[in-house]
Amino acid sequence: ATPRLLAFAGSLRQGSFNRRLIPVLAEGARAAGAEVTLIELRDYALPIYDGDIEAEAMPDNARRLQALMAEHDGLLISTPEYNGSMPALVKNTLDWISRPLADGRSGTALFADKVAGIVSASPGPLGGLRSLLVLRDALAKLGLLVVPQQVAVGQAGDKLADYGQLNDERQREAVQRVGAAVVRHIKVVREG
Ligand code: FNR
Repeated sequence: ATPRLLAFAGSLRQGSFNRRLIPVLAEGARAAGAEVTLIELRDYALPIYDGDIEAEAMPDNARRLQALMAEHDGLLISTPEYNGSMPALVKNTLDWISRPLADGRSGTALFADKVAGIVSASPGPLGGLRSLLVLRDALAKLGLLVVPQQVAVGQAGDKLADYGQLNDERQREAVQRVGAAVVRHIKVVREG
């Protein structure tokens, strides 16, 4: 079966550098044979996780994200760095998905043995590299295999001038290789 990947940027703003970068990562995965579903977290507008909200009724959009996770073999994420860590948006999204499903099955199990590829972008010189360390760890704790390849795009204001355009050939190829590595690792996981 064709590997299927769910992709999103960890920023809500229209002009987000990570939003501009995620299609480059998706392109690398598609070129390697994957089908990629690119979503905008803005469209899901999840509240900050609150057990009272969950107890009353799991938000429809959290259920939709769980259903998407169930249908895909892995994740592609482009994340900003906020104060040396990943944005609350990214963690909150993962946390909602990890909650029990409507039929009582484990939400965490949606991530088990799936594969992730991560990149970051920042106007700063390090490109949000520290957020990748934190995100890698969070994804690993959820049971995903995070491929060793990763790219942090610094000086994003100069390099990511438009949607899907990374004006640095070496880095563009490196980001695409992250996508390709995810597809390769899905095959490895499947063959067990
Ligand atoms: C930042 N930014 C930032 N940048 C960075 O390289 N390291 C950091 O630790 C931080 N910390 C940080 C905290 C908070 C609360 C904000 C709002 C921003 C700057 C950040 O990289 C910049 O706003 C990016 O443009 C955010 O990513 P998007 O929205 O362009 O994808």
